[in-house]
Amino acid sequence: MPNVVAEKGSSLSAITRDPVRRVWLLRTPSSSYGLTLTGEDAPLNLHWGPPRTLPQVVALAGPDRVSPNSFEGADDGWEELPVDGGTRYGPAALQVRFADGTRAIEWAFLGSEITEAENGSTLRLNFTDRHYPLKIALFYRVLEGSDVIERWVELENSGGQERIEILRADSAAWSVPTRPAYRLSHVVGRWGAEFQLRRTELSSGETVLTSRRGITSHHANPWVMLDAGDAGEEHGEVWGAAFTWSGSWRITVARDPVDKVIFTGGFGHEGVRWFLEPGQKLRTPVFAGLYSPAGFGAASRGWHDYALRRILPHPEEVRPVLYNSWEATGFEVSESGQVELATRAAAIGIELFVMDDGWFGRRTSDRAGLGDWQVNRDRFPDGLEPLVHEVHRLGMKFGLWVEPEMVNPDSDLYREHPDWVLRFRNRRRSELRNQLVLNFADPAVSDWAFGWLTELVGDCRIDFLKWDMNRAFSEAGWPENTGDPDRLWIDHTRAVYRIMDRLRAEHPGLRIESCSGGGGRIDLGVLARTDQVWPSDNTDAFDRLLIQEGYSQLYPARAMTAWVTDNPHFVTGRRTRLEFRFHVAMTGVLGIGGDISSWSEHELAQARELIALYKDIRPVVQHGKLYRSPAAGSVQYVTDARTVVFVFAPTGHFGQSRPPVRVAGLDPEGSYRDEDTGVVHSGAVLLDRGLEISLPVGDYASAIVRLRRI
Ligand code: DGJ
Repeated sequence: MPNVVAEKGSSLSAITRDPVRRVWLLRTPSSSYGLTLTGEDAPLNLHWGPPRTLPQVVALAGPDRVSPNSFEGADDGWEELPVDGGTRYGPAALQVRFADGTRAIEWAFLGSEITEAENGSTLRLNFTDRHYPLKIALFYRVLEGSDVIERWVELENSGGQERIEILRADSAAWSVPTRPAYRLSHVVGRWGAEFQLRRTELSSGETVLTSRRGITSHHANPWVMLDAGDAGEEHGEVWGAAFTWSGSWRITVARDPVDKVIFTGGFGHEGVRWFLEPGQKLRTPVFAGLYSPAGFGAASRGWHDYALRRILPHPEEVRPVLYNSWEATGFEVSESGQVELATRAAAIGIELFVMDDGWFGRRTSDRAGLGDWQVNRDRFPDGLEPLVHEVHRLGMKFGLWVEPEMVNPDSDLYREHPDWVLRFRNRRRSELRNQLVLNFADPAVSDWAFGWLTELVGDCRIDFLKWDMNRAFSEAGWPENTGDPDRLWIDHTRAVYRIMDRLRAEHPGLRIESCSGGGGRIDLGVLARTDQVWPSDNTDAFDRLLIQEGYSQLYPARAMTAWVTDNPHFVTGRRTRLEFRFHVAMTGVLGIGGDISSWSEHELAQARELIALYKDIRPVVQHGKLYRSPAAGSVQYVTDARTVVFVFAPTGHFGQSRPPVRVAGLDPEGSYRDEDTGVVHSGAVLLDRGLEISLPVGDYASAIVRLRRI
């Protein structure tokens, strides 16, 4: 049970306060965060940066600022949750409309609580509007041993009669200290090219990163990092935040003309609004922030550590090597074909066999059958049982593809329940990939989905679900809900979460992979109820290098599924060495997605060896710390005992020099033995001069070096 210490906070706690000056200080191992209240009770940022003491942060709390002229707000760029109203001209993080039409909010501070629990401390600041029945609580959680600070907001309509319209309810605004320059790091993308890292000067004005698609999206991912233009992989200050949500979202980064930067983020997007009925509460998802004093590499390691401590359901497990049948068969699945693939997969060392799309209803193409989750008896005359039994007999776990949120209009489900899909009256229902989106915000629909999923998992002894979601929302209406239809933007995602949570609770052995036409739904929200994610349908190893670099900025290798597929690649037409394809996939959770029934004996033998090698290095890759060196083309994983260095040289010129790869994260006093050659290296030499790594001649060359501390 947490111990609630109202209006207290011991000096040893991660959270302390000065009640007279109304200053609070949050401390993490490498950072601290200070805030105060203005004379009008608005919460204001004082500090987000290196570790500071309470007196040092109190010294930052000067007298209230005054507007420099009649066109500026005094506190723009500094507020913890800029509300709509008063002399504020930046992006509002909280905008509501009361029943009488008033939109502005005026803060009135009610008090604070510091809660100490085993794994961290939480600060809660309680406010109400000065006049209207709206309670606002700001939460800050500091986790033991982590530099991540979690923030969220709880709103409550504390009145008895009238509802309050919510126009924007962000989870937090993060105020970045004033610097002479700013760079914004984030990712952009599209189907087949997710997680493309962009690091560009932050322009003055407002930069909006958003998804209006009802899912996280391939096009942007809900995190940002800011630096003063001087940070690198292993040096420089970086401020960042990531949002734990898998529906539509929006982060607005504002740089004002006097170079103050603030960013605010939350669920929903512009134009979407919903209501708080009397007595109702709304709790926003966490928008977590992290300050790194040591570059983007340290920031990424901080986020990976957070995912491990706080997000992933089974972080300690090593993920199995999987085989997925999609690229081999497309929709042409059959019991005999799957058994043949499974037999070959088991022989090369696969541990989890996943059957993809095409096993149910009349799903012989993407035009029909979605929604009809009964086994296709033409393809599996005795149901799934014989295949599952055979896969288990071969010593592998069995995984199955599902897409619960979707329906093809050509399906029995749609013919029976045409009113279950997102739609507007008098508007066409736009199809994408010949499918429509089921409205999971409607409890009848989400109960139906949970019902067939739990039955399928239980009856068929399914060990792993690949949960796919293959189209963006459109015509997101809910005609039966005349009072609050936009609520579906939030409640759909919440229902997906609830189903996943219930499935996990009822089937503790079940593991889930999040997929959305590749990487359309990867975020800290879905990672909290899945075990791994599918970053892209583009499995071309050369393209994957970039996708994986972008992915790794925030998300850990232990959750990143990566398949080895066929030559030439089906998207890019590129031919690459089998070893290169393996090495690229071995930097995450290795899987095979090629048509192994057409691989030669030589290729299968190579695959068997490389899978065995992966199983040896897997604890280091999946549980070690990641160091990237994009310039050297290297990616490295480090645990106390072992280090694995990957080097990739997709192409090069004759005579081009390849400097030694400097190995990071080692002890300069330590000695490290190359596990393949037996050569012993000094830690200092590896750190300072680097390691000569010989690569095969030709394009798409790569190598792995395993070092063990002695
Ligand atoms: C999209 C996924 O990303 C693919 O891996 C595959 O599962 C297809 N859907 C199946 O329809």
